[in-house]
Amino acid sequence: MLKNKLRKPIGMAVFISGRGSNMQSIVESVESGLLKGIAEVRVVFCNRKDAPGLVFARKKGIPILVLESKDRDRKSFDADLISSLSKFRFDYIVLAGYMRILGKDFVQKFPRKIINIHPADTKVHQGLHGYRTAFEKGWKETKITVHYVDEGLDTGSIIAQESVDLQGLSSLEEIEKKGLAQEHVFYPKVLKQVFEASEEGL
Ligand code: GRF
Repeated sequence: MLKNKLRKPIGMAVFISGRGSNMQSIVESVESGLLKGIAEVRVVFCNRKDAPGLVFARKKGIPILVLESKDRDRKSFDADLISSLSKFRFDYIVLAGYMRILGKDFVQKFPRKIINIHPADTKVHQGLHGYRTAFEKGWKETKITVHYVDEGLDTGSIIAQESVDLQGLSSLEEIEKKGLAQEHVFYPKVLKQVFEASEEGL
């Protein structure tokens, strides 16, 4: 097996829609953490031009692609996205708070190359508001899930999960704060494992 420093870094296209705190942790991990020398962020894609996360990406000088998805039909939006993304070279699409469902054509173009992080066990809760659901239902724990993206809503095969102990937390804010802090450590760690495993197969 080649030593990591002799391999080319894995290229990531990171997709966001809003705050972008997971994107930020991935960028920082590439700069000086677990993903250093292993991966690079080649483009940050965002489907909302006013997303707060774009400020950080811009400051870092990362190439940015923005395509507004509001009022767009899924098929034509996805076709535009595929065409715009073709200008960038990347190996994986990393969803980091990307809130729009990717259509069948898009997902089929990148089989097992799209990865997402979800704040709950995807077998228990799919879609929006994972932390709010944990709070409202009084869960004792939630399981952050990193999974491949398929054509369904949070139905792709699970790569890794990590439990967040919610006992003793009494507000949604506390739950979200603790969960997100764990996401920020967990996502780069799992991405590293996926990238190293995929490199070994080359
Ligand atoms: C995170 O909780 C993530 O698990 C979910 O959406 C949220 C995005 O937060 N998919 P951020 O934009 O990364 O701050």
